[in-house]
Amino acid sequence: MIENIELNKSATKHLYLQLYSQLKELILKKKLTADTKLPPIRKFARKLNVNNVTIVNAYNLLEEEELVYKKVGSGTFVAPLTVQHKEEQDNYLDEKVYIDEDTKFTDNQEEIINFATGAPTPNLFPIAPFKRLVNKVLDRDGGYAFGYQKSQGYLALRKTISSYIANYNIEANINEIQIISGAQQGIDILAKTFLDYGDTVFVERPTYPGAISVFNSRKANIVEIPITPEGIDITVLEEKLAKHNPKFLYLMPNFQNPTGYSYSKKNKERIIELANKYDLLIIEDDCLSNLNYTCDNNQSLKSLDQNERIIYIKSFSKVFMPGLRLAFLLIPERHFEDILISKYISDIFTDGLVQRVLDLYFKEEMWEKQITTLKETYSQRYLTMCKALEKFLPQEVKFITPQGGLNFWLELPTKLTDAKLQQEALQANINLAPGSVFYAASPPKNKIRLSIAAVSQKEIKQGIKRLGEIIKDQLEDSDYRLDDSFLPLV
Ligand SMILES: Cc1ncc(COP(=O)(O)O)c(C=O)c1O
Repeated sequence: MIENIELNKSATKHLYLQLYSQLKELILKKKLTADTKLPPIRKFARKLNVNNVTIVNAYNLLEEEELVYKKVGSGTFVAPLTVQHKEEQDNYLDEKVYIDEDTKFTDNQEEIINFATGAPTPNLFPIAPFKRLVNKVLDRDGGYAFGYQKSQGYLALRKTISSYIANYNIEANINEIQIISGAQQGIDILAKTFLDYGDTVFVERPTYPGAISVFNSRKANIVEIPITPEGIDITVLEEKLAKHNPKFLYLMPNFQNPTGYSYSKKNKERIIELANKYDLLIIEDDCLSNLNYTCDNNQSLKSLDQNERIIYIKSFSKVFMPGLRLAFLLIPERHFEDILISKYISDIFTDGLVQRVLDLYFKEEMWEKQITTLKETYSQRYLTMCKALEKFLPQEVKFITPQGGLNFWLELPTKLTDAKLQQEALQANINLAPGSVFYAASPPKNKIRLSIAAVSQKEIKQGIKRLGEIIKDQLEDSDYRLDDSFLPLV
């Protein structure tokens, strides 16, 4: 309980975030029940041998999440849990349940378990602080938040982003930053800027279907380069570069969608070398690099780029809220003007209110907390998924465990198909993404993608157990049919 709380002063995580996480866990695990009084600030600070501000900050964060309430003159108390806390609570309680190998899952057939979507569920959105910051922006800027904005984006936010990305070893000044309304718009704007009818683009095979659709809409010639667990296949890339003159190469070096693979450092360096050798423009789409659970190999290509070969797209959809439609591009100087024009003709500018709120979100240092919370939730789901796949899937199903991100890419035995599995899984209230949609041409039929973005740990266990049973049934069924086909014709 509270007496057992310990803070690690040599850890990189801020002390107030450590305290916040531990108190949150006690509350969600119901070790601290509603209306329990938390220790007074000064007393608690003395006990933990930290500054008073550490306690104040931790209590403030808990208050923003409506996990505690304050009574003037009396102190801080644990709040009753709301519906929004439910899944998080499941996560904490689940962890214990998982250790018990004999636990029986009670299947709830009514709810669809959605492994198909990469979009996070609303209970992970920081609504309370967002509400406060919207009011703060409106009090401060009034109608200016709703006037026409600069096409390049709100200046204060661009400055904030410039310092934020410095933490990721990327140097970009405010002129290089273009605010966009989501990464999908970024891909579209870049396609508009660079592609004419019949131009060649290189993509990973498999890749993000939203990008395939954009390139198809420009009638581009899409050349797919296979991706391996180490990164894009460099030999094939070089062969293709010798034959084609692509307008650009579109890729996701960290926790790729759909495979979850991350490029090795060596692979990233080779790509940069090839870009320099072949004067190749690269579009790096980075949705998920913040979600690294087991490794630090989440370095962007952009941070390795010395020669302005890379246009970097960063979306806030997966690590903040997709409904905000916010992302940014980092653009080499020679492309500023063309890209700005494409942005202008797309939607003139990105919503001024949300840009201002995001700026304050960073300035009030809530960003770090948001990433920490998301990583905690997702890494629990990730571990549960890894265990459930090992435990419930037949060994004929192959997969490589990703080191982070949201996606697991599974290879089914060739006698099964993604379409049939999807169909039968849906009948059992499980949704998954069929692998074929991630290919520009000649898709294999035996891959599926499972995402942990919108499923609780409990759903992961139930869902993968059910999916494993369906796969086993389909395998038996196909063996039986296969045997039949060898019967001599008499
Ligand atoms: C690789 C990739 N790029 C871009 C997007 C679109 O992101 P946004 O919501 O920022 O438009 C997605 C969404 O799933 C994605 O997976």
